[in-house]
Amino acid sequence: MTNAPRILITAGPTHEPIDAVRFIGNRSSGRLGLELARAAHDRRLPLTLLLGPTHLEPSSSHATVIRFRSTADLQALLDDHFPHCDILIMAAAVADYRPTTIASPHQKLTRENRKLTIELESTPDLLAGCASKRSPAQTLVGFALEPRERLHDSARSKLKRKAVDAIVANPLDTMESPSIEATIHWADGATDTTGEAPIPKSDFAPWLLDHILEHHAARATR
Ligand code: CTP
Repeated sequence: MTNAPRILITAGPTHEPIDAVRFIGNRSSGRLGLELARAAHDRRLPLTLLLGPTHLEPSSSHATVIRFRSTADLQALLDDHFPHCDILIMAAAVADYRPTTIASPHQKLTRENRKLTIELESTPDLLAGCASKRSPAQTLVGFALEPRERLHDSARSKLKRKAVDAIVANPLDTMESPSIEATIHWADGATDTTGEAPIPKSDFAPWLLDHILEHHAARATR
């Protein structure tokens, strides 16, 4: 396919090291990002997948898959790969905080009869960092997983704060459910929603990718 948009997807959790064997992580499985990668592959789109520490494996052998562990690893990969993509879909559950210093990067902390305090610092906002370096032709999409009562306000505020094209709002209570209700908030104020009834997560990724591709193509003709 000529002029097919080059897709960059990030997926999965980050692990922020405490020492050589311990980390601070989160419960993201990376499943949605992997489903999006499958949908991109089904549409024969050039794809790079940056995949965090999850036990799930990508099903497509045609994508370039690069693994990361920490927010710092992912930041370095985005520095290399973001300039060469047309569409960034930031599905990774990036840590908000990480240990300020790694106690002993090549050793284990030992148990002693004392309190252990781990100081945390906030991580850089990787999506906002990409947005600050974007070319006008690039499309950037992020996610907001929030409790229902503040879902849409939070998605709209992330849209502005991160200066991206869209934020996909998912209610927190659908995290472990096989179905999802999602709303895409676009930068021009428009929204697209999966509808009144929740849809299976396997149908959600193609639905979302098609909306993103349509939006990207419409921007290119403007
Ligand atoms: N994100 C990112 N870098 C971070 C944290 C989040 O790029 N350090 C991205 C996520 O991949 C997601 C979007 O930003 O696409 C929203 O993530 P979220 O954790 O909900 O937003 P935060 O900016 O961390 O805001 P807060 O936790 O304060 O709600």
